[in-house]
Amino acid sequence: MGLIIAMVSGKGGVGKTTLTAGLGGALARRGKKILITDGDLGLRDLDLVIGKENEILYDALDVWKKRCRAEDAIVSVSEGLDFLPASQGVRWEDVGRKGYGRLLKKMAKQYDYVIVDAPAGIGRGNDAILRVAQRLVIVTEPVWVALRNAQRVMQVCREQRQLDYALVFNRINPHMLVADIEEAWYSLSAEMLGAVLPYSEAVWQQGQAGKLYNPIADTFDNLLTPLCDFCQSGNAWDDTTIFTQYASVMSAEQKKFEENKRQKEQPRLLVRQRDSRWRRLRR
Ligand SMILES: Nc1ncnc2c1ncn2[C@@H]1O[C@H](COP(=O)(O)OP(=O)(O)O)[C@@H](O)[C@H]1O
Ligand SMILES: [Mg+2]
Repeated sequence: MGLIIAMVSGKGGVGKTTLTAGLGGALARRGKKILITDGDLGLRDLDLVIGKENEILYDALDVWKKRCRAEDAIVSVSEGLDFLPASQGVRWEDVGRKGYGRLLKKMAKQYDYVIVDAPAGIGRGNDAILRVAQRLVIVTEPVWVALRNAQRVMQVCREQRQLDYALVFNRINPHMLVADIEEAWYSLSAEMLGAVLPYSEAVWQQGQAGKLYNPIADTFDNLLTPLCDFCQSGNAWDDTTIFTQYASVMSAEQKKFEENKRQKEQPRLLVRQRDSRWRRLRR
């Protein structure tokens, strides 16, 4: 029986869908059999970031209502990675919390890991997912509302005696920091840190191109390694190791950026004329 992992957050837009696809791809490349699925039953979006929106014939509700076999609804994404889409016209009342839990458990029998992209908030849908998930990834980003909401989600987890979770800081833009990440990490007092991930143009572009299950960029994939390890073992890396890894990746990126900028800024001689820019610059 595989493990059900839920990707949760209080706030929307922090990267749950992105990381469900990215983590699914990363674990599949490590030889695991993975199913990724939308946990927001009436509002799917995972299909878009993996470019499978035109291949969906049936969905999770059809499987649950026995209108088709699970194999008919499941879309193969890449080697070791499958996708079960949510329906677009269904609400929680149509399936029921227990029904959804049973469906996920049934799916988990055929996979090493089922990763559920949970809806934002702490409402009814999330409640069902929190109950059935055996391990959680709580995603946040360094803006106050996301940090506060992550804290609230952790509180809900503790109330439900769901303690197997790790926190991920995503979409970090070093030029737009409202909170120091390490300080935020200590003030949230979570026990396990899953990953610290930058805002990356490559991630954004692959999401738009529907290719998020592919390796993103070496640097980003390396930063996902502690999260893969947490999903597989339930143990997190030492937090200072993760922060050091993030800092060294970012300083290498910053150097590349500055080098690029320096090269672009160098005056380039096109035509050597009496009044050319080249001459003017040298006066
Ligand atoms: N690390 C990242 N770097 C760049 N863009 C990101 C990153 N993570 C998420 N995004 C972008 O942020 C937006 C919201 O991400 P999404 O995964 O849809 O969030 P959620 O599922 O939590 O609502 C998307 O446009 C996505 O491409
Ligand atoms: Mg989403």
